[in-house]
Amino acid sequence: MALLEVSGMRTGYEGIPVVFGIDLTVDEGEVVALLGANGAGKTSTLRAISGMIPVLAGDVVFDGASIAGRPAEGIARRGLVHVPEGRGIFPSLNVEETLRMAGAFGKVPKAELADRLDETYSTFPRLAERRTQTAGTLSGGEQQMLALARGLIWRPKLLMIDEMSQGLAPRIVADLFEIVDEFPKRGVSVLLVEQFVGRALDVANRAYVLEKGEVSFAGTAAKLAKDEDFVRGSYLGDVDVERLSDSQRRRRDTLPAVEEIPVQLPPALLRGLMERAERDGVSAEELIQNAVAGELAPPKRKNGTRKRKAPAKKKPATTKSTAKKPAAKTGRRSG
Ligand SMILES: Nc1ncnc2c1ncn2[C@@H]1O[C@H](COP(=O)(O)OP(=O)(O)OP(=O)(O)O)[C@@H](O)[C@H]1O
Ligand SMILES: [Mg+2]
Repeated sequence: MALLEVSGMRTGYEGIPVVFGIDLTVDEGEVVALLGANGAGKTSTLRAISGMIPVLAGDVVFDGASIAGRPAEGIARRGLVHVPEGRGIFPSLNVEETLRMAGAFGKVPKAELADRLDETYSTFPRLAERRTQTAGTLSGGEQQMLALARGLIWRPKLLMIDEMSQGLAPRIVADLFEIVDEFPKRGVSVLLVEQFVGRALDVANRAYVLEKGEVSFAGTAAKLAKDEDFVRGSYLGDVDVERLSDSQRRRRDTLPAVEEIPVQLPPALLRGLMERAERDGVSAEELIQNAVAGELAPPKRKNGTRKRKAPAKKKPATTKSTAKKPAAKTGRRSG
C-alpha cells in the first residue's frame, strides 16, 4: 500500500477549483517529483494534502488513514510535513533556537530532542557549524537547509518540499539535491515540487506533470527525463497540440474565444467557468456571454435544452413549443 494515496482530489480557493480530481501516490522510500508550469496547481496540491486548504472532492490517504479535511497540525504530527515555498525563517532566532522551537511545536519529547538535533546536524553539517548564528544572517542556501532541517526534526515519514531551489545559485542547488537524495535512506520519503526539472528528475524515482490542474503525465522519472521537449521547458505554455487528448484540445481551443472578451479573468475563475461550460455542454464563450447578459443559465435539462426565462410582456408560449425549441447556438463550438 502506498504511503500517500491521493485519489480524485479536487481543491481550490473559495470553492473555485484549481486542481481537478488528480490521482497521485508516493511509496515508502520514494522521491516523487511534481512538475508543471507556473500556475499549474503544484503548490495548491501540496497545500490541500497538508490540510492548509480544503479538499473539495476525492480523498487523501496517508499511512493507512484518510487525512482529507483534518487540521494541518494533526496531519504534520502523523508524519506528513510540508516545507512551503519561501523559507519562513525567523531572522532573529539562531539556528539551534529555530530547531528547538520546531521540536517543541512538533511535540518532540524533551528526552529525545538532543538525539533529534544530532541527527539533523549530521544531515546538515553546515548548520552544525552555524548553530549560534542568527537565521537572518545565513546565506539563502543555508536558510533553505534550515527550513528543511526544521521539517526533518519531526522525523516525518513524508516530506513535501515546495520550490527549495528558488533564488539559489546552481552550485548550492546541487548540494541541496544531494542531501535530498539521501532522505529515503533515513526513512523519509519525498514529494518534491521543482522548477529545476533536470535535477528533480535525477533524484526522483517517479514524476507527475500537472497542466492546468490536471495530471498530464505520470510515470518514471527516467521516462520523463528522455522527453527532451519537456526538459528544455517547452511545456511552459507551448503545448504540443498533437499530444493533447480530445477534451484537453477542446478546452485549449475554447481559450482564444474567451480571450476575445476584453476582460482579464483570474486564471482560477476562468478555469472554473470552463469547467461549468463543459458540464453544461456549451462553449465557455456562450457561458460568459450569458453571464454578462445577466442570465447565467441554470443547469441543462435532460433533452439538451436550457431553461430560459419566459420573455417579458409577451404572450406566454405553450409548454409544448418551448420544450421543442432548441437552444440558440450563439457561440463558436470547437472540437
Ligand atoms: N491564495 C489563492 N487564492 C486564489 N487563487 C489562488 C491562490 N493561490 C493560487 N491560486 C490560483 O491557483 C492556481 C494554481 O496556483 P498554484 O500556486 O497552485 O500553482 P503552481 O503550480 O504552484 O505555480 P508556481 O509554479 O507559480 O508556483 C493559479 O491559477 C493561481 O492563480
Ligand atoms: Mg507554486
